[in-house]
Amino acid sequence: MRMRQITGLIGVGLLTGALGTDTALAADTSGCQDGERVIRFSHVTAETGHPKGRAAKALAERVNAEFDGTLCMIIYPNAELYSDNEELFAAMQAGEVQMAAPSLAKMSGFSKGFQVFDLPFMFRDMIHVIDFTYTDEAQGLLRSMDGTGLTGLAYWMNGMRQISANRALEAPGDVAGLRFRIQGSPVERAYYGLLGADVQKMSFSKVFGALESGEVDGQENSWSNIYTKAFHTVQHSINETNHSLIAYALIVSTDFWQGLPRRQRDQLNLVIQEVTHEYNGFAFQLDEVNRSKVFESDTPVRVLDADARQLWVNTLRPVWQQFEGEIGAGLIAAASGGAVVNQ
Ligand code: LMR
Repeated sequence: MRMRQITGLIGVGLLTGALGTDTALAADTSGCQDGERVIRFSHVTAETGHPKGRAAKALAERVNAEFDGTLCMIIYPNAELYSDNEELFAAMQAGEVQMAAPSLAKMSGFSKGFQVFDLPFMFRDMIHVIDFTYTDEAQGLLRSMDGTGLTGLAYWMNGMRQISANRALEAPGDVAGLRFRIQGSPVERAYYGLLGADVQKMSFSKVFGALESGEVDGQENSWSNIYTKAFHTVQHSINETNHSLIAYALIVSTDFWQGLPRRQRDQLNLVIQEVTHEYNGFAFQLDEVNRSKVFESDTPVRVLDADARQLWVNTLRPVWQQFEGEIGAGLIAAASGGAVVNQ
């Protein structure tokens, strides 16, 4: 096997402007061999020090070693190709990109049920999230994508969300009147509404600049996203709220997936599940490492005691009731481990 370049051409972004995305992508076979089916994996986060970046790279290494001569995976990190939004989904449906792992907060267009992952204070920690992803209900959400042109294969983990702003947030009331960047989930809109804040939907690649320029006052993200994109360096302080989560749906273009010979598809699926298992565990370690790095920085982090945390819970929890109809009480109960909506 010859050495492969796993990451796509950085210059492809420039090429797309000149040639159009199809042509530029078709030209980028970065180390693939003639006759191999190319799997282009587009994502928005950093490659190193980040759970999604590391998992995608590990998957590409295994695919390129174990399917040498038949499959070839190229990774496009840091939103080099697409932001994780409607444009990405359209590119996947059109067969330009075969694989991606968008945040679950960007998936409600496929099934309203995905919003269960966005409900504030739904999950105690990432172990709770992982346990839920193996339930029939969570697996059913992946299957609910059938017929959309995209197939859900697995859940990938990142970490719990923390909230940061360009001023100190002592209590939920301090958020009122500020403008926050959101990924775009209706649940996010609803809970910022309860906090009295304005929101702006924005792609991940624009967040640092928007925080730096003051276009938005704050954001919420996992420690790994905050540290690897240096959001903490352009924020006054961070509250360790753990109020929601960043996790991903690993999705593949259905035409591509169904076009693989059965045996190869099963083999690839096995590799994907093994990488998922290994790197979901690794996400915990990276979360802790990146958390420590932010704590060591000049940006103060406020760790909430039980009373302070309860104020956030009391303020945001009514969102569950607002979304019970769309998500379904059964799904909420399955995710929460039995907690009821009006608790
Ligand atoms: C965000 O947009 O904040 C996250 O979805 C980015 C990511 O993929 O972790």
